[in-house]
Amino acid sequence: MDFIYKNPTAPIEARVQDLLSRMTLEEKLGQMTQIERSVVAPSVLKDRCIGSILSVGGSGPIEMALTSDWADMVDNFQKAALESRLGIPILYGIDAVHGNNNVYGATIFPHNVGLGATRDSELAKRIGVATALEVRASGIHYAFAPCVAVCRDPRWGRSYESFGEDTEIVRNMTSIVTGLQGQRPEGHPKGYPFLAGRNNVVACAKHFVGDGGTDKGINEGNAILSYDDLERIHMAPYLDCISQGVCTIMASYSSWNGVPLHASHFLLTQILKEKLGFKGFIISDAEGLDRLFHPHGSNYQQSVLYAINAGIDMVMVPFRYQLFLEDLTYLVQSGKIPIARIDDAVERILRVKFAAGLFEYPLSDKSLLPAVGCKLHRELAREAVRKSLVLLKNGKDPKKSFLPLNRNAKKILIAGTHADDLGYQCGGWTATWEGKSGRITIGTTILDAVREVTGSNTEVIFEQNPSAQTLASQDISFAIVAVGECPYVEFGGDSRELPIHFNGAEIISLVADKVPTLVILIAGRPLVIEQRILDKVEAFVAAWLPGTEGGGITDVVFGDYEFQGRLPVTWFKGVDQLPSNAVEKSYDPLFPIGFGLTSKGEVL
Ligand code: GLC
Repeated sequence: MDFIYKNPTAPIEARVQDLLSRMTLEEKLGQMTQIERSVVAPSVLKDRCIGSILSVGGSGPIEMALTSDWADMVDNFQKAALESRLGIPILYGIDAVHGNNNVYGATIFPHNVGLGATRDSELAKRIGVATALEVRASGIHYAFAPCVAVCRDPRWGRSYESFGEDTEIVRNMTSIVTGLQGQRPEGHPKGYPFLAGRNNVVACAKHFVGDGGTDKGINEGNAILSYDDLERIHMAPYLDCISQGVCTIMASYSSWNGVPLHASHFLLTQILKEKLGFKGFIISDAEGLDRLFHPHGSNYQQSVLYAINAGIDMVMVPFRYQLFLEDLTYLVQSGKIPIARIDDAVERILRVKFAAGLFEYPLSDKSLLPAVGCKLHRELAREAVRKSLVLLKNGKDPKKSFLPLNRNAKKILIAGTHADDLGYQCGGWTATWEGKSGRITIGTTILDAVREVTGSNTEVIFEQNPSAQTLASQDISFAIVAVGECPYVEFGGDSRELPIHFNGAEIISLVADKVPTLVILIAGRPLVIEQRILDKVEAFVAAWLPGTEGGGITDVVFGDYEFQGRLPVTWFKGVDQLPSNAVEKSYDPLFPIGFGLTSKGEVL
């Protein structure tokens, strides 16, 4: 007998209901479970009908694994899942948040704050298309992206994951969802998940809602604001994602007026599912349930009860899944969680899997392998870097522009901790969860790019911390000093003081006292720049976290392309001003949101 759910020409809703009607309680609860790859025993996929597997930051087959190793790993998990009684395929998820950033050799695009500086929604869509190809090439179906946080305070450790502090900028950049998933057809039912085909990935708008609005920018903190402000400032980008057919939405670790999002029936069910009509599935954050009570995981069964009844559909456990399934089974069998809630969750999960074509194409497509880190994608990333650069100062004398630089100058000094460090250029969520220093993947540092663009008669010298002797030599035409932040992620990035790391301000001062200097800041957010330092330099460029294509920086500073980037965030004078957003009467920034110069000194 042909089962409807196995019929690719049957309507998705018919397939969902047919399959749901055949599932046991154990299989339904298994589908609601997402576990980390490192704890997966193939038998558990077959016997427990696990719905999804993920790589938490950096978790992969082996360090610097080939893309084909990734695809083989995912396919092996999938083959085990397909041997389950009903043959329901898994979704494999990863944080592909600026390219497929876990995979060695993948194109690493600028982090979201830099894309926000471009204001270019078409570019964001094209980056989504490229990212989806590089993710599917690795056999992976699901990207925990985009983060659509509206970051209202740069002290937040995840501010670089946000497109900016202004809701309209973030809304404009949600077009990346269409790039990742494909163009939702006009007639597609509102709120329902959409995926175009095998070259697209299931996307995940995150973290719902108000993660970027927590008090003092404290990560996983508490957003204290009215419902109207929550909706106007932080919820608006989700409507854009839902209108593009976003398949999944991730709940935030943070709270709203003291209620944790993971336990908020009002926001997850009454607002997101009922009022906004979202028909994909809501996934928890990693150990999001464990964090509902303190100490961490202390009352786990209660956490499961609150989170599932609030409206969480899939739980990113991701390690202690036996305990999760034990508790969930007890809670359903004891009637504390209604079976109708379970059916709603599983319906949504199956709907996404059918929309994603997983039942038809469960395994990787090796023909996509050449897409990873290909020239076309690196050119796209280089274009994004160019468009993300914000010129904040150009010439001590505004009438005498310092940029563009002369590529045939006699001698150029390249200095600073970030001039020749690919890992610093990429920032967090690259190669590993936190990111790290050094040649972590294939790419071009600022120093590499300067060497490529300068004339054969130009001497390029590189000293991270230039010696007094070097600085004393009279024949240096100009210096480029690249400084900024070391990579960080989540709590690791929360900062009260926002300094330039590694004594970057001193390096700037030392060099600029002796040589005409361009500063390039490699950071996930504005940092404290004292006016006395700014006065010393000839030019200052915010380059954010540009990723692997450092050539995009020299393209602009040496004049092949014009600056077009504008600040997506406020550049404050001091941390005592924070939070500082344009709507306040006391708004007194060093540079206002939207500020940016051209190389001719015109304000964009
Ligand atoms: C992390 C992040 C979330 C990410 C998830 C999986 O803690 O909060 O953005 O998608 O866990 O790595």
